[in-house]
Amino acid sequence: MKALAIVVAAGKGERMGGARPKAFLPVAGEAMLLRAARAFDAAETVDTLVVVVPPNEVDAARCLLGPVRKPLLVVPGGERRQDSVLEGMKRAPDGFDGIVLVHDAARPFVEPELIDAVARAAEAHGAAIPIVPLTDTIKRLEAGRVAGTLDRDALAAAQTPQGFRYALLARAYEEADRARVDVTDEAMAVERLGALVATLPGSHRNRKLTTPEDLAWAEALSSAETRA
Ligand code: CTP
Ligand code: MG
Repeated sequence: MKALAIVVAAGKGERMGGARPKAFLPVAGEAMLLRAARAFDAAETVDTLVVVVPPNEVDAARCLLGPVRKPLLVVPGGERRQDSVLEGMKRAPDGFDGIVLVHDAARPFVEPELIDAVARAAEAHGAAIPIVPLTDTIKRLEAGRVAGTLDRDALAAAQTPQGFRYALLARAYEEADRARVDVTDEAMAVERLGALVATLPGSHRNRKLTTPEDLAWAEALSSAETRA
């Protein structure tokens, strides 16, 4: 398989409180973005990487990603996450009809095995995402008050990478754009078409790093693994 991986790293990461955009912050001595990109470099199913970064960080990112061996493009991102994904998709070769994987650089501990599993599931089903069970009980709110409790067993948290046949994802984003819908992941755009989205088990290590507490968790994880 020849999957195209789009790693989105153009977010500001305001909740992380750093001076640089989040993806450039070091996690256990290595920038989050390089860590995520290395996983795609190691994944068997991936043959090209497109990394999407803030417009003023393109040169810095190219330099940072020097160790990546596979063909790599670094491109400027957009205002919303979905705008950044679209910038990445534009870089697919003409007539590309393979699998596109979209990954948050904010998940630097993704395993190459998970990447390959998502790519293969997307090839088999058209669309596939990794999910993890919820541990908290989830409340529905109205005006800040509890209006109900959702059935936890019928819910899951979506991770990335999310994998799609290129044409399906392109159609999903065209439709979301036409309807002026903001999406928080790619599957949300594909679901709106009524297309099937398969699921597979995500991983605990593949947590999204959003707050300084998440960063502390990541440091603890990697030092525990170094000791092991
Ligand atoms: N992202 C992007 N372009 C944007 C916004 C987000 O490429 N315009 C990317 C982020 O870099 C991140 C992923 O989408 O890898 C998920 O976004 P999120 O976790 O919300 O990260 P940030 O937007 O960076 O963080 P925050 O929302 O805390 O500011
Ligand atoms: Mg954000």
